[in-house]
Amino acid sequence: MTSEPVLSPRYPGNWTRRHLLDVESLSADEITTILDTAESLKQATDGCRKKLALLAGKTCANLFFENSTRTRTSFSLAARRLGADTLDFSSSGSSLSKGETFVDTAKNIEAMGVDIVVTRHRTPGTPHLLAQNISCAVVNAGDGAHSHPTQGLLDILTIRQKRGRIEGLTVALVGDITHSRTARSNIWGLQKLGAHVIVCGPSTLVSRRWEELGVEVAHNLDDIVPRCDVMNLLRIQFERQSTRPFPSVREYALLYGMNRQRMARAKDDILILAPGPINRGVEITPDVADGPHSAILEQVTNGVAVRMAVLWLAAGARDAGS
Ligand code: CP
Repeated sequence: MTSEPVLSPRYPGNWTRRHLLDVESLSADEITTILDTAESLKQATDGCRKKLALLAGKTCANLFFENSTRTRTSFSLAARRLGADTLDFSSSGSSLSKGETFVDTAKNIEAMGVDIVVTRHRTPGTPHLLAQNISCAVVNAGDGAHSHPTQGLLDILTIRQKRGRIEGLTVALVGDITHSRTARSNIWGLQKLGAHVIVCGPSTLVSRRWEELGVEVAHNLDDIVPRCDVMNLLRIQFERQSTRPFPSVREYALLYGMNRQRMARAKDDILILAPGPINRGVEITPDVADGPHSAILEQVTNGVAVRMAVLWLAAGARDAGS
């Protein structure tokens, strides 16, 4: 008996974007193309485990100026799964401390024959600045509280895989919305694909101004739990806050943590997501994080698939002169 042949992924002929800077500027069709490409690459690499040669001869550089576990490693792995060489730049120990600018640093990395730069920086707009100054393809791996496009896309891919669609679903983003680039990327992508999005958290972290983006704002998690098809539980980003937005972490966990009692009031097929890193016992209890409704580690696998798709699409657009 022979096994099913794996179809070689086909590069989408209509793809013209060299850079991936945010989800806001993507059309619904472009988002769907990235998700479809990620699915085909995931299948062709046997669940992101095997290698293809789609980026053979290319070099991808990680320029990370902020800490990362998932994003940095999965971009490296994605590039290597597609046959690219990788370069990991670390700001600590670099000549930035001698006064070299961010753009000059990137230009020097580019001059070493790099094709794609993946960058994370605490300052919003940094990837956009790079895209204006270098000819490499630039991929945003998180810029301050602004955007984290591959995180939004991998969250949406996971929802689509688990629920078969995005349109018509009610998706709640719970937690520190104000400081979350993941929230913004989810909101843009989910709404473009037809989901109803609720942002929920204390009023100090979720203001009514979010309604201007077309989302529903809620301050009481217990009120919305029974309506949700998906809950994406976001970390409290203490490192981006100047004052504490609630009296204690324990109080936050009581009011906004997803726990066994709240799961009992949720839909039978509720899907639980978290972009990570998770703080067990704060935004999510261990039994929920590790429970049957959780797709947290599937999100991580899908992160490799989405990043393979983004790197391949970006490299192709650059080769075509876009
Ligand atoms: N979700 C996410 O961006 O995780 P890292 O900060 O570990 O990359």
